[in-house]
Amino acid sequence: ANGDQNVTSLMIKNLPDRLRQLLGQISYLADQKGYSVFIVGGFVRDLLLGVENLDFDLVVEGDGIAFAKDLAEFLCGRVRVHDKFGTAIVILSDEFKIDVATARTEYYEYPAALPKVEISSLKQDLYRRDFTINAMAIALSQKNFGELIDFFGGKRDLEEKVVRVLYNLSFVEDPTRILRAVRFEQRYGFTIEPQTLALAKGAIKAQILNKLSADRVREELKHILEETSPLGAVIRMKELGIWQFVLPQAMVDEEIISLIERAPKETTHIKELGFLDIKVWLIHLALLVHKSGATIEEIDTHLRLNKEEQLILKNILACWEVIVRLCAVPGAKVSEIARYLNEMPAEGYVFLLLKLGDQRSVNYLVKCLKRMKRNKLLITGDDIKRLGHQPGPLFKEALQAAWEAKLDGLLKSREEELGFVDRYIKEREGSINH
Ligand code: CTP
Repeated sequence: ANGDQNVTSLMIKNLPDRLRQLLGQISYLADQKGYSVFIVGGFVRDLLLGVENLDFDLVVEGDGIAFAKDLAEFLCGRVRVHDKFGTAIVILSDEFKIDVATARTEYYEYPAALPKVEISSLKQDLYRRDFTINAMAIALSQKNFGELIDFFGGKRDLEEKVVRVLYNLSFVEDPTRILRAVRFEQRYGFTIEPQTLALAKGAIKAQILNKLSADRVREELKHILEETSPLGAVIRMKELGIWQFVLPQAMVDEEIISLIERAPKETTHIKELGFLDIKVWLIHLALLVHKSGATIEEIDTHLRLNKEEQLILKNILACWEVIVRLCAVPGAKVSEIARYLNEMPAEGYVFLLLKLGDQRSVNYLVKCLKRMKRNKLLITGDDIKRLGHQPGPLFKEALQAAWEAKLDGLLKSREEELGFVDRYIKEREGSINH
């Protein structure tokens, strides 16, 4: 079953210096302290595919936690231990994280001195994983450094471009694997192997996805919607009838497919305007649900979003139509549109670019966003105080009014801004007093 292949040269060729060095250090320490250590999972898969992957998942035969502690000390990092699971995370000074797990032997109630019990524990660990392509390991001990350990034909499946489970109950034991199968299939342009596909369909039909908690569904959906292009997975999920369990409010029609297809380009556009903090998955999520009329509460029962995610989604769904309409009005004031845009998260700007009907509206939106970025006020509340006004709620109102006037091109200098807020406050105080 073993590939008997050494992938050291591949690691030398494909890994950045820093990671190669780190593998060397792990290897050295493992030998020094007498542990058998392997790097497993996605790292191995992506190494063989020639794809970058900076996730270090180590499996230690024996005491993974003890090794993690030694490793943290050796590399001058910190360690976070999860005793219950026999796992730990080593965190290096630059926040690089190394996951360490223990390959347990306790599943095998072998009589004491059975040979091969050590390799069996690694095999058992790998066998419990999702797909053959994710169930390979590379030995890190010095005597067999770089040896590819492939009990289940993972390398062959990579070459044949198939996603295959290791055992028939895999999807039943962990229904998130249905979503993972779709994600890996679409990410690498693979196909789900026929037997595996039949098992997945059976599990879907048996409504196995209903067993998942909202938290697990959200995390898996987030992984999918964060892929560079999630469209393939979105369509495949429709084909397989998965959306009804994950997010029944999602609509996957021609229009939404084309919106999701265009989303990466418009995201880049908005980033180039200086709005850098964009959670791509929320744009895709908003696109999927925006035509269903679903409320944020309905979506939330399925996904349990955090407060920030809720606010972002809620704002986009509530405001996009008004802004699209405003952008199409000839002669609409920049300030009028900016008032809405200012309340909107940057994810919404991408959404708007996608939904705007014509080039003229797109240009207008971009013009508003550029002005919002460049035309920040030069004065603050302190300046208003220096004009002799008493701080109060009118300050904020005056600054907002000045900002809007500036966006419309009415204020050209600091002096004009000061003059504007001074007049504004005096007028408002006058009208309040009368
Ligand atoms: N795994 C599994 N079943 C799951 C999740 C994970 O068997 N439901 C195993 C797989 O061996 C996987 C490893 O845990 O390779 C690490 O999982 P994760 O980091 O989620 O995925 P990666 O394979 O690293 O994929 P990605 O590139 O998306 O991070």
